[in-house]
Amino acid sequence: MSGDDRWWREGVCYQIYPRSFADADGDGVGDLRGIIDRLDHLAWLGVRGVWLNPVTPSPNADWGYDVADYCDVDPTLGSLADLDALVAAAAGRGIRVLLDLVPNHTSDAHPWFRAARSSRDDPHRDFYVWADPAPDGGPPNNWVSTFGGPAWTFDEATGQWYLHNFLDRQPDLNWWNPAVADAFDEILRFWFDRGVAGFRIDVAHMIVKDRHLRDNPPVLAGDPFPLQVRGQRPVFNERLPEVHDVHRRWRRLADTYTPPRVLVGETFCEDVRDVVPFYGRGDELHLAFNIPFALCPFEPGALRAVIDETEARLPPGCVPVWTASNHDLSRFPTRWCDGDEATTRVALMLLLTLRGCVFLYYGDEIGLCDTDVPRERLLDPVGVRFHPYAGRDPQRTPMPWHDGPGAGFTRAGVEPWLPFGSLERNVAVQRHDPDSILSLTRDLIGLRDALGDLRTGLHRSLEAPPGVLAYRRGEDVLVALNLGDEPATLPGPWHGSVRIGTRRSRDEERVAGPLALEPAEGVVVVLDRPA
Ligand code: GLC
Repeated sequence: MSGDDRWWREGVCYQIYPRSFADADGDGVGDLRGIIDRLDHLAWLGVRGVWLNPVTPSPNADWGYDVADYCDVDPTLGSLADLDALVAAAAGRGIRVLLDLVPNHTSDAHPWFRAARSSRDDPHRDFYVWADPAPDGGPPNNWVSTFGGPAWTFDEATGQWYLHNFLDRQPDLNWWNPAVADAFDEILRFWFDRGVAGFRIDVAHMIVKDRHLRDNPPVLAGDPFPLQVRGQRPVFNERLPEVHDVHRRWRRLADTYTPPRVLVGETFCEDVRDVVPFYGRGDELHLAFNIPFALCPFEPGALRAVIDETEARLPPGCVPVWTASNHDLSRFPTRWCDGDEATTRVALMLLLTLRGCVFLYYGDEIGLCDTDVPRERLLDPVGVRFHPYAGRDPQRTPMPWHDGPGAGFTRAGVEPWLPFGSLERNVAVQRHDPDSILSLTRDLIGLRDALGDLRTGLHRSLEAPPGVLAYRRGEDVLVALNLGDEPATLPGPWHGSVRIGTRRSRDEERVAGPLALEPAEGVVVVLDRPA
């Protein structure tokens, strides 16, 4: 692939949860050196970019998303020199590195917050959102935290409440203060100057809050479940119009670099219509995560609706981004496929044959499932608080590179920071098996590289029998996926040949007439050009 932007416009990227990918120093926690040691796996797979969850110093109240220093590397994960070495080693393999930027909040251990809470007169006080108590002495308004409970904590020493849309140890920054925006410009430059290709931006839709701190209105019947749990619509603490000013500012800054640096938003919205505005007019985020797709039931009608709506609503020239798992969501082989291997293969075929940018989550390529993490090993504050809801640890457990001691993740005998799950699906066992999930993933990425239609060809959904999701990509490619548990036939006639089937025995099969699919089976067909 050549061209400065094709890697993110058409390519497959890969999310690494650094603590769980590979542990080079044998302390049970993954690290940057471990990632460097495993880059060949990613190059072999055909990955063009990686996104690392936060690597910055953190007390880990929310596992890196509570940043204590935006311009350094957490010593558990390595050093700035290791990060530079990783960027260089990845570049040597044609892989770009995206870091995670957390601009909504800092850690309460960040020097800005320590200073801010030291006195009402401190120059950093206004870096955060402070407010006087309500007349009854309670919180200044009714906002609730994404992690439950009020979004405000009272600071005894200075007699005001501070805002936190997540944990009380994650105070929200005040984006109405121009000094905050200036400080972040410096942070972006710090990393861009080091050769980092861009950022995934944490809760990008959320960073600006109502200046007047007005109460949120109550939920309405029919609002999505997460809002029902909170009991209110986040009208005044999410998706404010001014958020777009910040994104445009960052885009202008990113565009001053050669090649331009790339901004990928965690735009956690329930509806595609709410995701689209984050692309602006091509002057805001380059990519906005399509959470409605990831959260969609694995059912042809629902998937088709999200895909069609995404394709229809994105402005021309803007690129959709598809992902099915991440560190906040249950892994798709569990959530969509209930662990079933055939269905997992169909899901991977779907993901890797959509137009635009695809993000795999580490382990997706081997069909890794969620891990049952026993209560006494839970570390995610959400899981700890809401047990028996498992929280997010099940999708964050160490990568199984092989099934021997240490699983290739850490040294034999070392207890990893989160427990290993099943080692049955592991990289080593799948790597040399042409029929494995891993081989299928690699071959689908290779086919995407080889066929322009698969990378950039227009997406056109087709009418299909119950259980089947079918679409054309560009002129020549037909993708047919049977998600159901009954055999199905896509009436044709079709003329062409199967390039890859989820059951590999169908590779190279000629198609002439209707296309028959077994339950939980998919095929990518290259159609014959009319003579
Ligand atoms: C984002 C992150 C999540 C984190 C939260 C608060 O949603 O993906 O892991 O807990 O922001 O930073």
